[in-house]
Amino acid sequence: MQTLQLDLGERSYPIHIGQGLLQQPELVTPHIRGKSAVVVSNTTVAPLYLHTTEAMLTGLKHSAAILPDGEEYKNLDTLNQIYTHLLENKADRKTTLIALGGGVVGDMTGYAAASYQRGVNFIQIPTTLLAMVDSSVGGKTGVNHPLGKNMIGAFHQPQCVLIDTDTLNTLADRELSAGIAEVVKYGLIRDPAFLTWLDENMDGLLARDPQTLTYAIYRSCEHKAEVVAADERESGQRALLNLGHTFGHAIEASMGYGQWLHGEAVATGMVMAAQMSQQMGWLGADEVAYVRHILQRARLPVDPPAQMSGEDFARYMSVDKKVLDGTLRLVLMKSLGESIVTADFDPDALKRVLQG
Ligand SMILES: NC(=O)c1ccc[n+]([C@@H]2O[C@H](COP(=O)([O-])OP(=O)(O)OC[C@H]3O[C@@H](n4cnc5c(N)ncnc54)[C@H](O)[C@@H]3O)[C@@H](O)[C@H]2O)c1
Ligand SMILES: [Zn+2]
Repeated sequence: MQTLQLDLGERSYPIHIGQGLLQQPELVTPHIRGKSAVVVSNTTVAPLYLHTTEAMLTGLKHSAAILPDGEEYKNLDTLNQIYTHLLENKADRKTTLIALGGGVVGDMTGYAAASYQRGVNFIQIPTTLLAMVDSSVGGKTGVNHPLGKNMIGAFHQPQCVLIDTDTLNTLADRELSAGIAEVVKYGLIRDPAFLTWLDENMDGLLARDPQTLTYAIYRSCEHKAEVVAADERESGQRALLNLGHTFGHAIEASMGYGQWLHGEAVATGMVMAAQMSQQMGWLGADEVAYVRHILQRARLPVDPPAQMSGEDFARYMSVDKKVLDGTLRLVLMKSLGESIVTADFDPDALKRVLQG
């Protein structure tokens, strides 16, 4: 097992990563302050891992709230189901919520914890690669509104993140690849050596080799933890974590949510960010080709959907959250492994990239 610490003063917490951690109650119980816990999961993950999770809670009062599975249920109605469960089970302010699932369950459970009785503790047990390397760490929680994704939410840090790599054995191949996109992202933003390691170890990751997964997850969480510790509320460098996301969100929104997985759209978005960086004179053609190559090795798409025009991209990108004061900011690569946020680019160069 590997452990790292997200350093946020009194809100610091450990992130444990390894095999078989769901069999180690001593990693979880010290973070449960009161005598009761409520596990929140969904109809796909609960049949697989709820039993093992509840076995760690022996001796505590506990129950489980099982939500429907899917991004389309990440909304206020489903959130209300969690509140109802908590009230029906007389959960008090010392109750700890435990999120068992992917990013959807984690984000909703975190927001329920941020708001129930003005805030209770929660623990993250992420079960998708994306949730392990990204959404479970850093304290962003929330739900979607019909008018915008993640528009209702709060910053609320968990007490602990428990990552059992064994749970990835049941994850669909496509979901695993989508998670790898976010892993590659850390390399492109701030760690050229990690990119080289990923290139060399991609087969092991795809084969779900436990040691290879543990290292990739550890390194990713370390990067996320460093960035979040420096800028918890995204006033500056945390925005770097959005590499590929402005382009990717446009693909997700234009294709209809669920058609392209988030990580798939981000992979293609990172290639477009690389192309834009080439337009800026920062990357060479061989480096853009390398970005495509490493993502293709992860079995991710690297070209935007054929039916999307440059105008489609422009329309969806202009509503992106990173448009502040009417200015579109992009995360671009100065070199492979060093990204920056900038609003200072030639709009015609962007048009050329969007038109493919
Ligand atoms: N809070 C943040 O900082 C942050 C960062 C990135 C993404 N997100 C959010 O995360 C969400 C996406 O998360 P996701 O990619 O994990 O999607 P997800 O939670 O929908 O999980 C993907 C699918 O895998 C299933 N699943 C989960 N674990 C499994 C397992 N071990 N075995 C088999 N099936 C399993 C889920 O039930 C679901 O059907 C989005 O809502 C996004 O907004 C949040
Ligand atoms: Zn993402």
